[in-house]
Amino acid sequence: MSSTQMSKTADVSGETCTLHTDGIPPDTLIKVQRYLERFHLTREKLQEVSERLRKDLIRGLGKHSHHKAPVKMLPTFVRATPDGTEKGDFLALDLGGTNFRVLHVRVMEEQQRVLKMDSQICAIPKEMMQGTGEQLFDHIAACLYDFLLSHNLERETLPLGFTFSFPCEQKEIDKSILIRWTKGFNCSGVEGEDVVKLLKEAIRRRGDYDIGSVAMVNDTVGTMMSCGFRDQSCEIGMIIGTGTNACYMEEMKNVKRVEGEAGRMCINTEWGGFGDDGSLRDIQTEFDVVVDEMSINPGVHTFEKMISGMYLGEIVRLLLVRLTEDGLLFGGRTSKALLTPEAFETKFISEIEEQDNGLENTQKVLSKFGLKWDTVDSCVVRLVCDAISSRSARLCGAALATLANRIRVNRRQERLKTTVGVDGTVYKKHPNFSEELRATVRLLAPKCDITFLVSEDGSGKGAAMVTAVMVHNYCLLFIAELMNEYVLFRQQ
Ligand code: GLC
Repeated sequence: MSSTQMSKTADVSGETCTLHTDGIPPDTLIKVQRYLERFHLTREKLQEVSERLRKDLIRGLGKHSHHKAPVKMLPTFVRATPDGTEKGDFLALDLGGTNFRVLHVRVMEEQQRVLKMDSQICAIPKEMMQGTGEQLFDHIAACLYDFLLSHNLERETLPLGFTFSFPCEQKEIDKSILIRWTKGFNCSGVEGEDVVKLLKEAIRRRGDYDIGSVAMVNDTVGTMMSCGFRDQSCEIGMIIGTGTNACYMEEMKNVKRVEGEAGRMCINTEWGGFGDDGSLRDIQTEFDVVVDEMSINPGVHTFEKMISGMYLGEIVRLLLVRLTEDGLLFGGRTSKALLTPEAFETKFISEIEEQDNGLENTQKVLSKFGLKWDTVDSCVVRLVCDAISSRSARLCGAALATLANRIRVNRRQERLKTTVGVDGTVYKKHPNFSEELRATVRLLAPKCDITFLVSEDGSGKGAAMVTAVMVHNYCLLFIAELMNEYVLFRQQ
């Protein structure tokens, strides 16, 4: 390792977060660290955050307190994992992550596996993400038609699974009311409406094809169920991608909003909303406040804005601008690109923090941004990225520890052994995110042995695509089960 290279041995267990900062002059380092300190969360602080979330989970579950609860704790009506005996032909839509996808899956009962699977990605232009709901659903219906046409399926009436990764109040499997948009979406006329109805209306407006029954699912639930196929003890699903969220199996007796005491139900926590009542103000930095204010939904999903891929790059950018203005970077000169909101993508953070090529990657990114950098600048930029991504990993770790501790206490177990199904680009692509997250969970949930099951991994882009598709395969198996139950229920 050259003297200017940094490597990290961050240790959440104590206050000693050792970072190799060789090559940065001491006076610069002190000033930079003064900014970065604001992003460092001590063990005590993380414990406090976890405790606050614990209380908010209870508020969200309560019959009379859930209306005002920042963590929504939405019942999903999923009570069990699938048994793998489902069969049939399905369509699936996946809206809410980086891309919008359409899929066709054929499941054969005998082999208990997916036989045939095709998928297509459809871009959703930014204007459409913030246009009218009618435009959005017309676009979705058009993408679906193109897909059906190119796969000779336009004359079939197939059931459809809809992974809709936004907070919804699930009334029935095919009735799901959008509570509010999150992430980059803000289409008019959809909040408070039944998303399935809007989709069906858009298809009816076209009049050139039809779909069968529809099942709605949140991406966290899809992830938990998909991983549940590989590991029966998977009882938590977690996403750290464009947004962040988790679901877990809660005891029915604690789900006060749903009748019945027996068994368990999967709860979509919508933990991204944690802090929306101001409870995280002590750990929000001025940069978080700006990110929130400049977002399309100020005051909403505070926790998510400190953690997920949609926002991390922007926090780094704001910090880099400030350090430059303070003369601590790039000889005090910013660039047009650096001053452009949202220009600093979260994927750059992962590239910059890479162990082996990190320094080289940093310099490529800085050159792309038209900045005049030297080696010290590159080192400082790496420190900044590390501070932001570490905070994100630790906050997520604290939240996950809260869920694990809750499951353990619910079951009155001395030790809990459980599996978490995980998906999302931040978790998968960042070089040490998962490690830091796990370290935090070990620290805050010492009586829980957690296995992390990443939804199918792959190296290149193509492999990542296959991965995404695989996840939804399994998700569809689960949807198939729900649909079977639904059909039976209707027949009774
Ligand atoms: C946002 C959505 C949530 C989703 C998460 C991850 O937080 O509100 O429903 O699960 O993003 O995609």
